[in-house]
Amino acid sequence: MKQHPNVANEKVPAAGELIYGTAFRFDDTTTLVYKALSLGYRNFDLANWSKYYNEKGAGVGIRTWCEEDHEKREHRRRQIWVQTKFTPAKFHDADDEQPFDASKSIPDQIIESATSSIAHLNFDPLQQSSPSDNGRLIKYLDAILLHCPLEEAKLTLLACKVLEQLVPEVARHWGVSNIGLPLLRWVFEHEEIIIKPKVVQNRFLRSNNYDLEVRKYCSEKDITYQAFGVLKNRELLDNSVIRRISSETSFSPSSLVLGLLTLRGVSVLDATTDEQHMKDNIACQAWIFENVGTSSLRQVAEGLFG
Ligand SMILES: NC(=O)c1ccc[n+]([C@@H]2O[C@H](COP(=O)([O-])OP(=O)(O)OC[C@H]3O[C@@H](n4cnc5c(N)ncnc54)[C@H](OP(=O)(O)O)[C@@H]3O)[C@@H](O)[C@H]2O)c1
Repeated sequence: MKQHPNVANEKVPAAGELIYGTAFRFDDTTTLVYKALSLGYRNFDLANWSKYYNEKGAGVGIRTWCEEDHEKREHRRRQIWVQTKFTPAKFHDADDEQPFDASKSIPDQIIESATSSIAHLNFDPLQQSSPSDNGRLIKYLDAILLHCPLEEAKLTLLACKVLEQLVPEVARHWGVSNIGLPLLRWVFEHEEIIIKPKVVQNRFLRSNNYDLEVRKYCSEKDITYQAFGVLKNRELLDNSVIRRISSETSFSPSSLVLGLLTLRGVSVLDATTDEQHMKDNIACQAWIFENVGTSSLRQVAEGLFG
Protein backbone atom coordinates (compact mmCIF):
# COMPACT_ATOMS: atom_id res chain seq x y z
CA MET A 1 0.00 0.00 0.00
CA LYS A 2 1.33 3.46 -0.86
CA GLN A 3 2.14 5.45 2.25
CA HIS A 4 0.54 8.74 3.15
CA PRO A 5 2.90 11.45 2.05
CA ASN A 6 3.23 13.18 5.39
CA VAL A 7 5.37 16.24 5.09
CA ALA A 8 7.88 16.92 7.87
CA ASN A 9 6.67 19.12 10.72
CA GLU A 10 3.10 19.30 9.50
CA LYS A 11 0.23 18.35 11.68
CA VAL A 12 -1.14 14.85 11.19
CA PRO A 13 -4.60 13.77 12.31
CA ALA A 14 -4.41 12.64 15.88
CA ALA A 15 -6.95 10.14 17.10
CA GLY A 16 -8.65 11.64 20.08
CA GLU A 17 -8.04 15.34 19.52
CA LEU A 18 -10.92 17.80 19.63
CA ILE A 19 -11.84 19.31 16.27
CA TYR A 20 -13.52 22.69 16.25
CA GLY A 21 -16.68 22.53 14.10
CA THR A 22 -17.79 25.62 12.22
CA ALA A 23 -21.17 24.74 10.71
CA PHE A 24 -23.97 27.29 11.22
CA ARG A 25 -21.64 29.91 12.68
CA PHE A 26 -22.00 32.31 9.72
CA ASP A 27 -20.60 35.79 10.52
CA ASP A 28 -19.38 34.62 13.94
CA THR A 29 -17.02 32.11 12.34
CA THR A 30 -13.96 34.40 12.31
CA THR A 31 -14.27 35.36 15.98
CA LEU A 32 -14.98 31.80 17.09
CA VAL A 33 -12.12 30.24 15.12
CA TYR A 34 -9.71 32.88 16.40
CA LYS A 35 -10.93 32.37 19.97
CA ALA A 36 -10.64 28.59 19.66
CA LEU A 37 -7.05 28.89 18.40
CA SER A 38 -6.15 31.30 21.19
CA LEU A 39 -7.48 28.83 23.75
CA GLY A 40 -5.65 25.82 22.30
CA TYR A 41 -7.80 24.17 19.61
CA ARG A 42 -5.67 23.18 16.61
CA ASN A 43 -8.09 21.26 14.35
CA PHE A 44 -10.85 22.87 12.29
CA ASP A 45 -13.69 21.40 10.28
CA LEU A 46 -15.20 23.30 7.35
CA ALA A 47 -17.06 22.62 4.11
CA ASN A 48 -17.18 24.48 0.83
CA TRP A 49 -20.92 24.90 1.29
CA SER A 50 -21.78 28.55 1.85
CA LYS A 51 -25.31 27.75 2.96
CA TYR A 52 -23.97 26.41 6.29
CA TYR A 53 -20.22 27.07 6.44
CA ASN A 54 -18.09 30.19 6.10
CA GLU A 55 -14.66 29.17 4.78
CA LYS A 56 -13.66 32.78 4.16
CA GLY A 57 -14.47 33.73 7.74
CA ALA A 58 -12.58 30.72 9.10
CA GLY A 59 -9.57 31.68 6.95
CA VAL A 60 -9.52 35.18 8.43
CA GLY A 61 -9.60 33.73 11.97
CA ILE A 62 -6.79 31.27 11.23
CA ARG A 63 -4.57 33.81 9.47
CA THR A 64 -5.11 36.44 12.15
CA TRP A 65 -3.89 33.99 14.78
CA CYS A 66 -0.89 32.92 12.66
CA GLU A 67 0.08 36.52 11.90
CA GLU A 68 0.18 37.44 15.58
CA ASP A 69 3.68 35.99 15.50
CA HIS A 70 4.71 37.13 12.05
CA GLU A 71 8.15 35.48 12.15
CA LYS A 72 6.55 32.16 12.99
CA ARG A 73 3.44 32.48 10.82
CA GLU A 74 4.41 29.55 8.56
CA HIS A 75 5.29 27.43 11.56
CA ARG A 76 1.96 28.30 13.17
CA ARG A 77 0.06 27.36 10.04
CA ARG A 78 1.76 23.94 10.04
CA GLN A 79 0.52 23.35 13.59
CA ILE A 80 -3.09 23.67 12.46
CA TRP A 81 -5.19 20.97 10.83
CA VAL A 82 -7.63 22.56 8.37
CA GLN A 83 -10.07 20.17 6.76
CA THR A 84 -12.89 20.98 4.41
CA LYS A 85 -15.36 19.09 2.25
CA PHE A 86 -16.51 18.74 -1.30
CA THR A 87 -20.29 19.05 -0.99
CA PRO A 88 -22.08 17.51 -4.00
CA ALA A 89 -23.99 19.77 -6.38
CA LYS A 90 -27.48 18.72 -5.28
CA PHE A 91 -26.96 20.35 -1.86
CA HIS A 92 -26.20 23.81 -3.22
CA ASP A 93 -29.21 26.12 -3.61
CA ALA A 94 -29.34 28.38 -6.65
CA ASP A 95 -28.90 31.51 -4.54
CA ASP A 96 -25.84 30.13 -2.62
CA GLU A 97 -22.33 31.06 -3.64
CA GLN A 98 -21.45 28.18 -6.01
CA PRO A 99 -18.06 26.57 -5.32
CA PHE A 100 -17.92 24.91 -8.75
CA ASP A 101 -19.66 24.73 -12.08
CA ALA A 102 -22.25 21.99 -11.59
CA SER A 103 -22.56 21.42 -15.33
CA LYS A 104 -18.99 20.08 -15.40
CA SER A 105 -17.88 16.51 -14.71
CA ILE A 106 -17.55 15.23 -11.13
CA PRO A 107 -13.72 15.31 -11.32
CA ASP A 108 -13.80 18.94 -12.50
CA GLN A 109 -16.30 19.86 -9.78
CA ILE A 110 -14.08 18.39 -7.07
CA ILE A 111 -10.93 20.06 -8.36
CA GLU A 112 -12.76 23.42 -8.61
CA SER A 113 -14.20 23.00 -5.13
CA ALA A 114 -10.80 22.22 -3.57
CA THR A 115 -9.14 25.08 -5.42
CA SER A 116 -11.82 27.52 -4.34
CA SER A 117 -11.56 26.29 -0.72
CA ILE A 118 -7.89 27.31 -0.67
CA ALA A 119 -8.80 30.66 -2.24
CA HIS A 120 -11.55 31.16 0.39
CA LEU A 121 -9.13 30.40 3.22
CA ASN A 122 -6.83 33.17 1.96
CA PHE A 123 -9.60 35.64 1.16
CA ASP A 124 -8.84 39.21 2.20
CA PRO A 125 -12.11 41.00 3.06
CA LEU A 126 -10.50 44.43 2.60
CA GLN A 127 -9.25 43.66 -0.90
CA GLN A 128 -12.28 41.46 -1.62
CA SER A 129 -9.91 38.97 -3.26
CA SER A 130 -7.50 36.14 -2.57
CA PRO A 131 -3.79 36.67 -3.24
CA SER A 132 -2.03 34.50 -5.80
CA ASP A 133 -0.09 31.43 -4.72
CA ASN A 134 3.03 33.09 -3.31
CA GLY A 135 1.11 35.52 -1.15
CA ARG A 136 -0.97 32.80 0.48
CA LEU A 137 -0.41 31.64 4.01
CA ILE A 138 -2.73 28.65 3.63
CA LYS A 139 -1.28 26.91 0.60
CA TYR A 140 -2.77 23.46 1.14
CA LEU A 141 -5.66 21.75 2.90
CA ASP A 142 -4.79 19.23 5.57
CA ALA A 143 -7.68 17.10 4.41
CA ILE A 144 -10.54 17.18 1.97
CA LEU A 145 -13.58 15.00 2.58
CA LEU A 146 -16.36 13.83 0.33
CA HIS A 147 -19.31 15.26 2.29
CA CYS A 148 -21.45 12.21 1.55
CA PRO A 149 -21.40 9.32 -0.92
CA LEU A 150 -22.80 10.01 -4.40
CA GLU A 151 -25.92 8.34 -5.81
CA GLU A 152 -24.11 5.30 -7.14
CA ALA A 153 -21.15 3.40 -5.74
CA LYS A 154 -19.18 3.78 -8.96
CA LEU A 155 -19.62 7.58 -8.82
CA THR A 156 -18.45 7.56 -5.22
CA LEU A 157 -15.40 5.59 -6.29
CA LEU A 158 -14.73 8.10 -9.07
CA ALA A 159 -14.99 10.98 -6.57
CA CYS A 160 -12.62 9.18 -4.19
CA LYS A 161 -10.09 8.67 -6.96
CA VAL A 162 -10.14 12.40 -7.68
CA LEU A 163 -9.72 13.25 -3.98
CA GLU A 164 -6.81 10.83 -3.86
CA GLN A 165 -5.18 12.65 -6.77
CA LEU A 166 -5.33 15.91 -4.82
CA VAL A 167 -2.89 14.39 -2.32
CA PRO A 168 -0.39 15.77 -1.41
CA GLU A 169 -0.17 19.09 -3.27
CA VAL A 170 -3.72 20.40 -2.79
CA ALA A 171 -4.64 18.35 0.27
CA ARG A 172 -2.35 16.29 2.48
CA HIS A 173 -5.04 13.66 3.13
CA TRP A 174 -8.52 12.78 1.98
CA GLY A 175 -11.57 11.21 3.59
CA VAL A 176 -15.29 10.55 3.46
CA SER A 177 -18.22 11.64 5.58
CA ASN A 178 -21.63 10.06 6.23
CA ILE A 179 -20.53 6.64 5.04
CA GLY A 180 -21.59 3.14 6.11
CA LEU A 181 -19.29 0.19 6.57
CA PRO A 182 -19.99 -1.76 3.34
CA LEU A 183 -19.22 1.20 1.10
CA LEU A 184 -16.27 2.33 3.20
CA ARG A 185 -14.77 -1.16 3.05
CA TRP A 186 -15.36 -1.41 -0.70
CA VAL A 187 -13.70 1.93 -1.37
CA PHE A 188 -10.81 1.38 1.03
CA GLU A 189 -10.01 -2.05 -0.34
CA HIS A 190 -10.58 -1.17 -3.98
CA GLU A 191 -7.48 -1.82 -6.08
CA GLU A 192 -7.88 1.53 -7.85
CA ILE A 193 -7.55 3.42 -4.57
CA ILE A 194 -3.84 3.64 -3.95
CA ILE A 195 -3.62 6.36 -1.30
CA LYS A 196 -6.18 5.25 1.26
CA PRO A 197 -8.63 7.60 3.01
CA LYS A 198 -7.27 8.97 6.27
CA VAL A 199 -10.48 10.41 7.74
CA VAL A 200 -14.05 9.21 8.24
CA GLN A 201 -16.52 11.68 9.71
CA ASN A 202 -19.88 10.28 10.79
CA ARG A 203 -22.89 11.06 12.93
CA PHE A 204 -22.59 9.56 16.40
CA LEU A 205 -25.93 8.05 17.27
CA ARG A 206 -27.09 5.60 19.87
CA SER A 207 -29.61 4.08 17.44
CA ASN A 208 -26.63 3.15 15.27
CA ASN A 209 -24.75 1.61 18.22
CA TYR A 210 -22.53 4.71 18.15
CA ASP A 211 -21.15 3.55 14.78
CA LEU A 212 -19.08 0.87 16.51
CA GLU A 213 -18.52 -1.27 13.42
CA VAL A 214 -17.22 1.67 11.38
CA ARG A 215 -15.06 2.80 14.31
CA LYS A 216 -13.52 -0.65 14.62
CA TYR A 217 -12.78 -0.76 10.91
CA CYS A 218 -11.20 2.70 11.06
CA SER A 219 -9.04 1.65 13.97
CA GLU A 220 -7.82 -1.44 12.06
CA LYS A 221 -7.04 0.59 8.96
CA ASP A 222 -5.42 3.60 10.64
CA ILE A 223 -8.25 5.91 9.64
CA THR A 224 -9.05 8.79 11.99
CA TYR A 225 -12.68 8.49 13.02
CA GLN A 226 -14.41 11.81 13.66
CA ALA A 227 -17.80 12.03 15.40
CA PHE A 228 -20.38 14.79 15.10
CA GLY A 229 -23.73 15.15 16.85
CA VAL A 230 -22.32 13.62 20.04
CA LEU A 231 -24.10 15.94 22.48
CA LYS A 232 -27.45 15.30 20.81
CA ASN A 233 -27.41 11.90 22.57
CA ARG A 234 -29.31 12.95 25.66
CA GLU A 235 -28.85 9.54 27.31
CA LEU A 236 -25.09 10.14 27.48
CA LEU A 237 -25.53 13.46 29.29
CA ASP A 238 -28.03 11.86 31.67
CA ASN A 239 -25.94 8.76 32.32
CA SER A 240 -25.58 8.12 36.06
CA VAL A 241 -21.80 7.50 35.90
CA ILE A 242 -21.30 10.72 33.95
CA ARG A 243 -23.47 12.56 36.48
CA ARG A 244 -21.43 11.12 39.36
CA ILE A 245 -18.07 12.10 37.82
CA SER A 246 -19.51 15.52 37.05
CA SER A 247 -20.53 16.03 40.68
CA GLU A 248 -17.08 14.90 41.88
CA THR A 249 -15.24 17.23 39.49
CA SER A 250 -15.92 20.71 38.19
CA PHE A 251 -16.68 19.36 34.70
CA SER A 252 -20.09 19.41 33.04
CA PRO A 253 -21.57 16.20 31.59
CA SER A 254 -21.01 17.70 28.11
CA SER A 255 -17.28 18.24 28.67
CA LEU A 256 -16.97 14.77 30.18
CA VAL A 257 -18.78 13.02 27.32
CA LEU A 258 -16.61 14.76 24.70
CA GLY A 259 -13.44 14.10 26.70
CA LEU A 260 -14.18 10.46 27.47
CA LEU A 261 -14.98 9.73 23.85
CA THR A 262 -11.44 10.71 22.93
CA LEU A 263 -10.27 7.77 25.10
CA ARG A 264 -11.92 5.51 22.53
CA GLY A 265 -9.70 6.98 19.82
CA VAL A 266 -12.47 9.16 18.45
CA SER A 267 -11.78 12.72 17.34
CA VAL A 268 -14.78 14.69 18.49
CA LEU A 269 -16.35 17.59 16.61
CA ASP A 270 -16.82 20.30 19.21
CA ALA A 271 -18.82 23.32 18.06
CA THR A 272 -19.34 25.31 21.20
CA THR A 273 -19.82 29.06 20.81
CA ASP A 274 -19.16 29.65 24.50
CA GLU A 275 -15.65 30.64 25.61
CA GLN A 276 -16.08 29.00 29.01
CA HIS A 277 -17.18 25.74 27.36
CA MET A 278 -14.07 25.85 25.16
CA LYS A 279 -11.86 26.28 28.23
CA ASP A 280 -13.74 23.56 30.12
CA ASN A 281 -13.52 21.07 27.24
CA ILE A 282 -9.77 21.54 26.92
CA ALA A 283 -9.25 21.38 30.69
CA CYS A 284 -11.47 18.31 30.97
CA GLN A 285 -9.59 16.50 28.24
CA ALA A 286 -6.28 17.28 29.96
CA TRP A 287 -7.70 16.06 33.28
CA ILE A 288 -8.87 12.82 31.67
CA PHE A 289 -5.47 12.13 30.14
CA GLU A 290 -3.75 12.90 33.45
CA ASN A 291 -6.01 10.56 35.38
CA VAL A 292 -6.63 7.78 32.92
CA GLY A 293 -3.77 5.65 34.23
CA THR A 294 -4.88 5.74 37.85
CA SER A 295 -8.66 5.58 37.56
CA SER A 296 -11.44 3.64 35.91
CA LEU A 297 -12.00 6.31 33.24
CA ARG A 298 -10.98 3.98 30.44
CA GLN A 299 -13.55 1.37 31.53
CA VAL A 300 -16.18 4.08 31.87
CA ALA A 301 -15.50 5.21 28.29
CA GLU A 302 -15.61 1.65 27.00
CA GLY A 303 -18.86 0.99 28.87
CA LEU A 304 -20.48 4.11 27.47
CA PHE A 305 -19.39 3.99 23.84
CA GLY A 306 -18.25 0.42 23.21
N1 LIG B 1 -20.19 15.81 7.97
C1 LIG B 1 -21.42 16.22 8.24
O1 LIG B 1 -22.37 15.90 7.53
C2 LIG B 1 -21.64 17.07 9.45
C3 LIG B 1 -22.95 17.26 9.93
C4 LIG B 1 -23.13 18.04 11.07
C5 LIG B 1 -22.04 18.63 11.70
N2 LIG B 1 -20.79 18.45 11.20
C6 LIG B 1 -19.62 19.09 11.84
O2 LIG B 1 -19.67 18.82 13.21
C7 LIG B 1 -19.66 20.04 13.95
C8 LIG B 1 -20.41 19.86 15.25
O3 LIG B 1 -21.77 19.66 14.98
P1 LIG B 1 -22.71 19.10 16.13
O4 LIG B 1 -24.06 18.92 15.52
O5 LIG B 1 -21.99 17.98 16.81
O6 LIG B 1 -22.68 20.27 17.20
P2 LIG B 1 -23.73 21.46 17.38
O7 LIG B 1 -25.02 20.88 17.87
O8 LIG B 1 -23.75 22.30 16.16
O9 LIG B 1 -23.07 22.29 18.54
C9 LIG B 1 -22.92 21.77 19.84
C10 LIG B 1 -24.00 22.31 20.78
O10 LIG B 1 -23.80 21.76 22.07
C11 LIG B 1 -23.80 22.82 23.01
N3 LIG B 1 -22.87 22.57 24.13
C12 LIG B 1 -23.19 22.65 25.43
N4 LIG B 1 -22.12 22.39 26.19
C13 LIG B 1 -21.09 22.15 25.35
C14 LIG B 1 -19.74 21.81 25.55
N5 LIG B 1 -19.19 21.68 26.77
N6 LIG B 1 -18.97 21.63 24.45
C15 LIG B 1 -19.48 21.75 23.21
N7 LIG B 1 -20.77 22.07 22.95
C16 LIG B 1 -21.58 22.27 24.04
C17 LIG B 1 -23.34 24.03 22.23
O11 LIG B 1 -23.86 25.16 22.88
P3 LIG B 1 -22.85 26.35 23.37
O12 LIG B 1 -22.46 27.06 22.12
O13 LIG B 1 -23.69 27.15 24.28
O14 LIG B 1 -21.70 25.69 24.05
C18 LIG B 1 -23.94 23.81 20.86
O15 LIG B 1 -25.23 24.31 20.81
C19 LIG B 1 -20.24 21.06 12.97
O16 LIG B 1 -19.90 22.38 13.32
C20 LIG B 1 -19.61 20.61 11.69
O17 LIG B 1 -18.27 21.08 11.63
C21 LIG B 1 -20.57 17.67 10.10
